[in-house]
Amino acid sequence: MMFELIYYSTASPDLSENDILSILENSRDFNSKNEITGCLLYHNNEFVQLIEGEEEAVKKLYAKIESDKRHNNLIIVIQDNIAARSFKNWSMAYYKPTTAAAENLSELLFKLNFLALSQLAEKPTDASKFFWYISTLLLEEK
Ligand SMILES: Cc1cc2nc3c(=O)[nH]c(=O)nc-3n(C[C@H](O)[C@H](O)[C@H](O)COP(=O)(O)O)c2cc1C
Repeated sequence: MMFELIYYSTASPDLSENDILSILENSRDFNSKNEITGCLLYHNNEFVQLIEGEEEAVKKLYAKIESDKRHNNLIIVIQDNIAARSFKNWSMAYYKPTTAAAENLSELLFKLNFLALSQLAEKPTDASKFFWYISTLLLEEK
């Protein structure tokens, strides 16, 4: 059984493109060694990240990410068991959407926000499916 966690956060004001590149470089190394896969979206100073793998590994990684000063206001939208990975070939896929795709991302953030606030997160599959749908759209844009 696999486990997934999705959170969103606000990037620290002084975060640069280079910071993101170095986060990704480290992440891909660490994640592949720890059989973690997932996807990171970045838009308008907001991150949305999906992490999947063994439950213990995912939770340990999240604890590290949570204390990272390069972002704050982390809100977990979902954490639950999953039957299969959504990003099995990606140690950490990264999307910084173009303006057109950003509308979809705004919609995603809106929906995630809504899910978190209304505690609809009990319906995890909806959020995961939506995340997957948006990521696929963004991926197709490339
Ligand atoms: C938005 C964001 C996403 C991150 N995602 C990952 C990740 O998927 N994997 C990873 O190893 N580190 C990730 N990091 C970096 C970790 O927070 C941390 O810096 C890294 O794991 C090194 O921690 P350590 O020096 O305590 O080993 C992320 C950081 C940020 C700000």
